[in-house]
Amino acid sequence: MTLDLFDNPPQTGGRQVLGPQSCVLRGLALPMEHVLVEAIASIERVSPFRHMVTPGGFTMSVALSNCGDLGWTTDASGYRYTSIDPLTQEPWPAMPAAFRQLVQEATLAAGFEGFDPDACLLNRYRPGARMSLHQDKNERDLTQPIVSVSLGIPATFLFGGLRRKDPAQRVPLLHGDVVVWGGVDRMRYHGIVPLKEAAHPLLGAQRINFTFRKAG
Ligand code: SIN
Ligand code: FE2
Repeated sequence: MTLDLFDNPPQTGGRQVLGPQSCVLRGLALPMEHVLVEAIASIERVSPFRHMVTPGGFTMSVALSNCGDLGWTTDASGYRYTSIDPLTQEPWPAMPAAFRQLVQEATLAAGFEGFDPDACLLNRYRPGARMSLHQDKNERDLTQPIVSVSLGIPATFLFGGLRRKDPAQRVPLLHGDVVVWGGVDRMRYHGIVPLKEAAHPLLGAQRINFTFRKAG
């Protein structure tokens, strides 16, 4: 079951509470949009977006890359963090300063000061791409929050409970929005419904989401 959109209306600016320790910071990344897009382009030149295969043998509709000391990968043998990009056999590109700056602002606004991520996973969605409900549980320290930035075309974020079958809020995420969840909300199921056809002035027909974690 999913709740209606109007149970959780989008707001412009400010902070939309999702749970006791989770919120959307509307438009927080907007002032940095150009530097963020440039940073993503330079990451992509080192570690290109690629479609990975799940342990169950499915090719993901979302294309992935990473930056930072550790990167999340999946293949036939499982999900894990690695310091080497399996595609290039080189380290993942460094986390850009602008990314760290945004994390600082987001964690200050959301009440998770001191968060020091070592992993940033970039997800590229084209229209039709989706991410099914899952928990983020490959990180060593599950007390650390997750910071998730959205750029490009809109998406609907599903934010559920601690059990897969719990009802999920449908949260519209727009260019520049930042979601933070941690503490008692850290293990909540979440996902993205298939993206509708759309084009964004800066990014075209795609959504780039990047998420920061303390993985190691
Ligand atoms: C994720 O769960 O890693 C991605 C969520 C999103 O694309 O907003
Ligand atoms: Fe996730």
